Amino acid sequence: MTILFDHNVQDIEEDETKKTKQNDVDAVTDLVLEAGFLHPDPPQLQISSSGFIAPVVNAFGHAFRAYDAQGQRQKGVENFYRLNHIHQTFDFVKRMREEYSKLDKMEMSIWECCELLNEVVDESDPDLDEPQIEHLLQTAEAIRKDYPDEDWLHLTALIHDLGKVLLLPKFGGLPQWAVVGDTHPLGCAFDESIVHHKYFIDNPDCQNPAYNTKNGVYEEGCGLDNVTISWGHDDYMYLVAKENKTKLPSSGLFIIRYHSFYPLHRCGAYTHLMNDEDKANLKWLHIFNKYDLYSKSKVRVDVEKVKPYYLTLIKKYFPEKLRW
Ligand SMILES: [Fe+2]
Ligand SMILES: [Fe+2]
Repeated sequence: MTILFDHNVQDIEEDETKKTKQNDVDAVTDLVLEAGFLHPDPPQLQISSSGFIAPVVNAFGHAFRAYDAQGQRQKGVENFYRLNHIHQTFDFVKRMREEYSKLDKMEMSIWECCELLNEVVDESDPDLDEPQIEHLLQTAEAIRKDYPDEDWLHLTALIHDLGKVLLLPKFGGLPQWAVVGDTHPLGCAFDESIVHHKYFIDNPDCQNPAYNTKNGVYEEGCGLDNVTISWGHDDYMYLVAKENKTKLPSSGLFIIRYHSFYPLHRCGAYTHLMNDEDKANLKWLHIFNKYDLYSKSKVRVDVEKVKPYYLTLIKKYFPEKLRW
């Protein structure tokens, strides 16, 4: 496999990441104090019908997705988006999709991948600072309580972030900016709602007039399946699930593929590219996202206790071993 990166960029990124990690340790006390500043009112917990409690601040004491809040971690996140916006181009995504469609990196079960993901920490995420398997199970268990009959949704929640294995050396060791963070379409104008939009100025696609109109290379209503979205763990896991012939419904695949597409599901941008099936599936993505975001808290899940249930679901919807 040949994946070309500007190694200087990667080195700089790694350096800054190390600095950020060190600073995170020092910053913990500040962040707690800042929480009081950001939220002068006592925290209101959002409680769903089943009692799922959605905290209003994340593990660091910030409002969720507070990308502009001060703090070292936020600076690291901003730098992450700078690199993401400069390097994710139409051609880059095309190359990534070709390479990873081969599914020649590994063979393993869904559960084996859940365990493998424990080695990964997502640095783009201002809300999460714990092993990924906790987040997967927190999200899945929270949805299971509120939607007990939608077993496909529980499993979708469990596997939605498995594509983050792209960060591991066995999967090409892609840099963070090519794996995590919010996603957005390429081949048409970058919507203002995309986080840290200003950094697109250095993206080579901005020099291509064909990519800089509202529809760009697409037609209105063409369906998101025909739209090239920035490369990352969403699209990779979608490819893995689809090519391994999952029995998950299209709404499950839609959630996996577009859960980081915040400009669409949070801001309503790019809806002109959707078709009717996308519109129906978007309703499920809105439901899912609430849990994806708010279950990133310090609530612990007893992995061994819930594991048998999820193994049953994996057996129902996936083959024993998958090609990755
Ligand atoms: Fe994700
Ligand atoms: Fe997630």
